[in-house]
Amino acid sequence: MSEMKILYYPHEILTTPAQAVGNVDDEIRKLLDDMAETMYLNKGLGLAGNQVGLLKRLVCIDIPEDEEQGIKATGLLQMVNPRIVESEGEVEFQEGCLSFPGLYIDVPRAAKVTFEYLDRNGKLQTVHADGLLSVAVQHEIDHTNGVVFIDRLTPKARKRALRDYERAKRKLGIN
Ligand code: NI
Repeated sequence: MSEMKILYYPHEILTTPAQAVGNVDDEIRKLLDDMAETMYLNKGLGLAGNQVGLLKRLVCIDIPEDEEQGIKATGLLQMVNPRIVESEGEVEFQEGCLSFPGLYIDVPRAAKVTFEYLDRNGKLQTVHADGLLSVAVQHEIDHTNGVVFIDRLTPKARKRALRDYERAKRKLGIN
């Protein structure tokens, strides 16, 4: 496995919709494994293909258990062509994103979702999720559509988030 380079906003690939994957083959499995390694090395809970320069609808998520917050571990989810098929309710979580280092914002999302994806063997899986997994999968599927988390804010909150992001980048020495 090898680590991939994470793209930072405003890289144009982050705002470009990705293509559906036609065939889940060894090349796709290798990309999913490199993405998982990259996510772990950067301590992310999720990573989408766009974030590593791939315009393919690929997503990895691994949410660790947090007993205090009542969060169950998901284990590693490696998804091809994930999509939301149902959503309900509203929730706001504080989200971070590996493509926006240093920025943490409250983002409005659906509270519960049902999503589908092809697993690494090309088998269709359906998952009902709430809590952090629901939020994470919405965040990552947005990435595959070229949508980033600040796009979910009101115009005013988005402007403020962009200012905070510029400040965070300066602090971290990123241009
Ligand atoms: Ni993200």
